[in-house]
Amino acid sequence: MKKLFKSYFLLAAALTLVMAMLCGCGDGAATGANADNGAATFTTVTEGKLIMATNAYFPPYEYYEGDAIVGIDAEVAQAIADKLGLELEIQDMEFGSIITAVQTGKVDMGLAGMTVTEERLQNVDFTTSYATGIQSVIVPEGSEITSVDDLAGHMIGVQLSTTGDIYATEEFGADYVEQYNKGADAVLALTQGKVDAVIIDNQPALSFVAANEGLIILDTEYAIEDYAACISKNNPDLMNAVNKALEELIADGTIQEILDKYIKAE
Ligand code: ARG
Repeated sequence: MKKLFKSYFLLAAALTLVMAMLCGCGDGAATGANADNGAATFTTVTEGKLIMATNAYFPPYEYYEGDAIVGIDAEVAQAIADKLGLELEIQDMEFGSIITAVQTGKVDMGLAGMTVTEERLQNVDFTTSYATGIQSVIVPEGSEITSVDDLAGHMIGVQLSTTGDIYATEEFGADYVEQYNKGADAVLALTQGKVDAVIIDNQPALSFVAANEGLIILDTEYAIEDYAACISKNNPDLMNAVNKALEELIADGTIQEILDKYIKAE
């Protein structure tokens, strides 16, 4: 009797597992139908679409031109969507919400100049890296801060939940870090003297310094990072398909062309 009970239990557990696999649902979010790209079969949130989450205040990776979100990530995602035969949809949200949106199956991937970190890898998977970022320090011209070491004891502005935020908080303490929703807000605070420095990725730093007089970027590389797209750990088929597309786009020079279009060689 006991043995019988056990095998019923196992059968029920196996059935539950199969059903969960068939509907691919955590909480009913991922209901999309299959897309068939030659050999590869994968599932997206909405049939026929590739929904990308980003935070569109991060030039030249993503920013608004009128109502449209443009930039490196928008073009990389478009090229991936084209290869997979999907229509790209971009959803703009707070940077700190992107990983949750990916994890909970609200979107298919996050593409936001996002750095691959050990901590994020606990929650999502990352594709092959398609770009490199460097954490830079912006200060007002004539600032007494001339190196990263000088930052200690000064107020540092960052974009909430970014690696700049994480490093600054770890290294200098939360009391010395002012978090803003957008990188541009941190830079605005810098121009108003509310913070003494801003730590942010080098390419947005260059755009913000170009757009605001009286700011300079320190000649130091605070941290060098890899950018990649993040995809749910529950969707390895989509991960494989996106990675395959991305690797082809890297190999045929498309990604480099997109980077060169937005990033002018110094
Ligand atoms: N690379 C940094 C990070 O991953 C900043 C990215 C911010 N991206 C954005 N679209 N606002 O934390």
